[in-house]
Order: sequence, then C-alpha cells, then structure tokens
Amino acid sequence: MSFEVFFEEMKAKLSHVVPEPEIYIKAELAYEINKLKIEKNAVILGHNYMEPALYHSIPDHVGDSLGLSRIAAQTDKDVIVFCGVRFMAETAKILNPEKTVLLPAKEAGCSLAASITAEDVRELRAQFPGVPVVTYVNTYADVKAESDVCCTSGNAKAVVESLDSETVIFLPDEYLAGNVAKETGKHIIFPSKLKPGSDPNLDYQMIGWHGRCEVHDQFTVKDIEDIRREYPEVVILAHPECSPEVVAASDFSASTTAMIRYVEETEAPQYLLLTECAMGDNIAAANPEKDMLRLCRVRCPHMNEITMEDTLAALQKNQYVIDVPEDIRVRAARAVERMIEIG
Ligand code: 13P
Ligand code: SF4
Repeated sequence: MSFEVFFEEMKAKLSHVVPEPEIYIKAELAYEINKLKIEKNAVILGHNYMEPALYHSIPDHVGDSLGLSRIAAQTDKDVIVFCGVRFMAETAKILNPEKTVLLPAKEAGCSLAASITAEDVRELRAQFPGVPVVTYVNTYADVKAESDVCCTSGNAKAVVESLDSETVIFLPDEYLAGNVAKETGKHIIFPSKLKPGSDPNLDYQMIGWHGRCEVHDQFTVKDIEDIRREYPEVVILAHPECSPEVVAASDFSASTTAMIRYVEETEAPQYLLLTECAMGDNIAAANPEKDMLRLCRVRCPHMNEITMEDTLAALQKNQYVIDVPEDIRVRAARAVERMIEIG
C-alpha cells in the first residue's frame, strides 16, 4: 500500500479524535514501523490503553491482558513487540522463551506490580499454609513463579471459583480482591503486613494484599454523582481495579475489552469510562456516533511511556529485550498456563 493510501485510511479512522497534522506525522512513523515489522517477522501487540494513533495503526492485535496473553501464546512470529507495560511483555516472554520479546520503553512499570515481591508471597504462604495463591497478571515474573495460578480482570471470578478451596490468597490488588469477593460471595481478610502471631483461626475466606492501581484508585463515588447530576442518562463503566464502592455506584464493570464491547453493543446517550483515558478516545475513533465523556485528570504514566517513536526504535535497534531467568520462567509459566486453560 502506498503511503498516500495509508495516510488516507488513518485519517478516516482518527479524524474525530486526532488533529490532521498529527495524523500525518504518526502515519509516517506507522508506515515505517509496519514495513520493518514485516522485514523482522515481528508481531505487534497493543494494549487497549495505547494512544489512539498508535492503537489504530500498528498493532496486529489489540486487547486486554487476557486476550493478549492468549495471542502471545499462539504466535509463530520470531519477535513480539509489546506496546503495553513490562509485566505484559514478561508474560509474553514466559509463554515464548525461544522468541525475542521487545518492550519499546526501557521501564514501563505498574503500581500494582511494584506493590508486592516474591518474598512477600513466600511469607504469606508460610503464614497461611496450604491456601492456594491467585496472582493478578499485573505482577512481575518472580511473583507469578510463587503463585498457583494467575488471573486477569477478565477471568478473576472464574479462576477463584475453579479452586477447590474455601480460602484463597488473592494478590496484590485490594480493590480487585474486594470486587471478586463480592462476585463470588467470599469475604476478604487483609493480613496486617504479616505480623508474627496473627490469629491462625481467623474466619477468613479470601486473603488480600494492599496493592492499588495508581490510576483507578483516583476515581471516587463523588465523581460518579457529579457526572450523573450533569448527565442523568449517562452509562458509567468502571474497571474492577476501582474501589468496590465506585464499582457499586457504576452501571457495568469488567476488563478493558469487555468495556469496549459493552459500549459497542449498547445504545446510551453518553458513556463514561472510569479507566485510562485513552480507551475513551479509541472507542470514539472507531464509533464516532458514540458520545464518550472524558475524566482525563488521571493517566497511566507507564502506559503513556509507549510511543510510536520508541516502537520504531525498538524494531530498528532490537530494544528493550525482555529476559526472565529460566528457573523463574518455568514456574511462572505453570501459573499463567493454568490461567489460560481456565478461560
Ligand atoms: P485489562 O486486563 O482489563 O486490560 O487491564 C489491564 C490493566 O492494567 C488495567 O489497569
Ligand atoms: Fe498498572 Fe494501573 Fe497502569 Fe494498569 S493503569 S498498568 S494497573 S498502573
């Protein structure tokens, strides 16, 4: 395809949300990236939080953590370029040890992944012997390696329900743990940072940790009340990393892909997404008839580190290569593969 045709196609997709001069610059970058992608036999995976020009031009697949993990497990390409954050690229490497996995930004972290260490998980296991450990994929490989099974926002309920145990250790997101507990009927105990001498006979069913997403933690019930006052018919969708109170005050809560599907398949005068703001732009670009309200004071600084310039440099310079030590990878793969089998 010529550059002119490619640019016109990008313009048709993005003109509602991106100014034309920016589309032109991004189209030049995207055109180069897509040529290099073929030369290097690479696949580009893009999380739903990528900015609209990137999201709508270079990924071969877009999706949520679960969908992208599934695709990463199946790809036959030599190189996987992950336009997302480090824990996502690590998951792709865990599932594809023989492939090169590239993360375009040197350090695109995540406050949830940073909230817990492998040692914390070992201590929890020692405190609650025999209790299965479910770990959100928003963790690093060494934490996954200490876990029995991983989950994402898309399958957390199914994973918890699949376990033949009344008691579950659910890490590290305290809000997701609370939301899953509500859905499954289990309740949560938060170990007070593993103080020795905690009562071993606690009436617990789900043991949570105190991690939070720095983005979803910012949304409040007051935000919802304010928006509803101004737009009484708005439909509000909250990612399950929001607090249980915010989720309860919303109309729908699910993974990023399920939120996109919900907006596409329903008719409402306005929608508000309580999640990273780029997702509202991406939906608005693909569905110009939908009125997407914005609450953009909170952005994920880590997802926003991934740019098209850096993605081009990643392919040109083979950077930044994601490596996971083999002993950790093998143990982490068991937890991730078990999750993928559950659904
Ligand atoms: P999803 O798995 O729903 O895409 O969420 C990933 C994430 O990091 C949300 O903040
Ligand atoms: Fe992590 Fe939150 Fe950013 Fe998702 S939005 S990557 S959970 S900091």
